[in-house]
Amino acid sequence: MNYAVRYYTKTGNTKKLADAVAKAVGVEALPISSPVDEKVDILFLGNSYYAFNIDPEVRDFIRSLDRKKVGCIVNFGSAAMLNSTYKKVKAEADKVGIKMDEREFHCKGEFKGVHKGRPNEDDLKAAAEFAKAVAKI
Ligand SMILES: Cc1cc2nc3c(=O)[nH]c(=O)nc-3n(C[C@H](O)[C@H](O)[C@H](O)COP(=O)(O)O)c2cc1C
Repeated sequence: MNYAVRYYTKTGNTKKLADAVAKAVGVEALPISSPVDEKVDILFLGNSYYAFNIDPEVRDFIRSLDRKKVGCIVNFGSAAMLNSTYKKVKAEADKVGIKMDEREFHCKGEFKGVHKGRPNEDDLKAAAEFAKAVAKI
């Protein structure tokens, strides 16, 4: 199985999760400015909510994906209040015909002093365990 990890971050929280996920599956976490050129079975995609939506850069990144290269997307991320970006990401993945795995990782993310320190060490450990379970490592 081949894996890739891409993330979008504004304040660093998603990068922390992405690094934990990437280490667990033995690849490097790269920002979404880095295109997925190779064929991968699973693309772990880290993203968050900003003003009740995913960032337009994340939307454009998903739209740029080649369904012949990406087997499926596994969503992960954090948010301060909302639960998960899954539906937003799936809506874009559907448009390009890429399957979304039903499993995802989500935790609280620090925002303006709320949920201070999140994602914390426990969150990063849980993200890594989630990635290993999904990747069957
Ligand atoms: C500009 C901005 C807008 C945000 N809007 C929301 C929001 O609408 N709902 C929510 O639950 N969290 C919101 N958050 C909180 C982020 O989703 C949360 O802090 C997340 O961990 C940020 O990830 P990042 O550091 O990788 O960007 C917002 C954060 C920022 C910086």
